[in-house]
Amino acid sequence: MNKERKLIIAGNWKMNKTTAEAADLVRDLKLDLANIKEVDIVVCPPFTALGEVSKLVLASNIRLGAQNMSEHNFGAYTGEIAAGMLKEFSVRYVILGHSERRQYQKESDALISKKALAAHAASIRPIVCVGETLAEREAGQTEKVLDTQVRGSLAGLTKQQIEETIIAYEPVWAIGTGKTATSAQAQDAHKFIRQLLETLFTKTVARRVRIQYGGSVKPSNARELMALPDVDGALVGGASLEVRSFGDIIKNSI
Ligand code: PGA
Repeated sequence: MNKERKLIIAGNWKMNKTTAEAADLVRDLKLDLANIKEVDIVVCPPFTALGEVSKLVLASNIRLGAQNMSEHNFGAYTGEIAAGMLKEFSVRYVILGHSERRQYQKESDALISKKALAAHAASIRPIVCVGETLAEREAGQTEKVLDTQVRGSLAGLTKQQIEETIIAYEPVWAIGTGKTATSAQAQDAHKFIRQLLETLFTKTVARRVRIQYGGSVKPSNARELMALPDVDGALVGGASLEVRSFGDIIKNSI
């Protein structure tokens, strides 16, 4: 597939897999995906498996991501993990502001932008998630929600930091539901986000930023979604937990 930007496909394992299970999956993925050069491949295991997975992906084409991090660098923040701790495991990416964290941990755009700044300061690339709920879509609020989330979550980042940020458009109603956005819905939202980046930054910045689609991505819909002009990859939940489905999503996207 001839794309303007290199595809980046990341597996968000969420709260799944013990260290032993994570190691099994990564060993299988390494074998299955050893020859893939066309796509940036990222796995985001739970914190507890980062150490083990980090050793296994060394010298492979699989990069490591975390699912969250603190906006602080150290201190009295019980239960939190700082960017410097992720760096120890060669973590290159961190998912920020996933809709599950926006919903259950009440993460705000302002907090997400602080985390994004802290990630960049540690040379970890944030994958910043945005997306509307079903009620918001039905009320015709999709663009308004995306506008607020993109502006708020990226506030304070420099042009260079924006270029190294990945945005994941994940309509909340498509996450874990088996309901994927149609190609037209996905392309419209991605194009809207890219135009907003052009307004907020420059045309060059907007052209360089990679925007992933997330929400029930599977082997059967990956090709069509990844072929859309403004879709530059995928953030995959459920289907990233098995070698067959994650591997096929990647192979079908090339
Ligand atoms: P899903 O999750 O692929 O299971 O819908 C996507 C996500 O939450 O990142």
